[in-house]
Amino acid sequence: MKYFLDSAKLDEIDYAYEFLGIDGVTTNPKHIQLSGKPFNTVIKDLAEWVKAKGIEGSDVFPISIEINPHLEKWEDMVTEGIHYSGLCKNFVIKIPCTEQGLIAAKKLEEKGIRTNVTLVFSTSQAIMPGKLNCMFVSPFVGWKENSGEDCSLYIQEIVDIYNQYGFTTEIIVAALRNGKQIKDAAVAGADIVTCGLQVYKDAMDHPFTAYGLSVFRKAWDETVKE
Ligand code: E4P
Repeated sequence: MKYFLDSAKLDEIDYAYEFLGIDGVTTNPKHIQLSGKPFNTVIKDLAEWVKAKGIEGSDVFPISIEINPHLEKWEDMVTEGIHYSGLCKNFVIKIPCTEQGLIAAKKLEEKGIRTNVTLVFSTSQAIMPGKLNCMFVSPFVGWKENSGEDCSLYIQEIVDIYNQYGFTTEIIVAALRNGKQIKDAAVAGADIVTCGLQVYKDAMDHPFTAYGLSVFRKAWDETVKE
């Protein structure tokens, strides 16, 4: 299973790449706002970063860039997608799962521009990006589970449908908030998870690991060595 980082902060991305071996990045307008940098600066910095790391190419290290969320017509989405994809080989165009968005994704994929269909909240919404051979589909989990839904079946259904019909679109289980949601995505057989750096850090840790270390350190210190 691949781990993508949900962030537009270059220091976090660099840390997660160098030390945690993340496989790609997903951004959205909120993450770019939280980076504190102008939109075009973030885009430029990301393009320069992949060059400096020698990891150019959307098949090597995909970075999802979301189009302007105000765009409503597929023609405008396509124009913007063409523009961003021309700036960096790693950029995958993130398009909202609306009828116009799906048309734009189809047109972009036909031109060889890879897409990530985002803001997917139901199994039925997830089918069309698979039919259209989009590079990624991003069903959100955190937002739904924060509202009391259990998303285990939702992700399992999407994985089963994709396997049943041989869709090659990779499933990014998105907006995860804790280690249990990462585990659920893995058990369901999803291709990728994406979440913030702190969620990955929390998922690597356990209070009993710290407790166990304190027990073992005490025993170590109290044991005669020779
Ligand atoms: C995924 O592609 C989205 O960018 C992301 O997971 C959105 O969720 P969040 O910003 O609420 O974590």
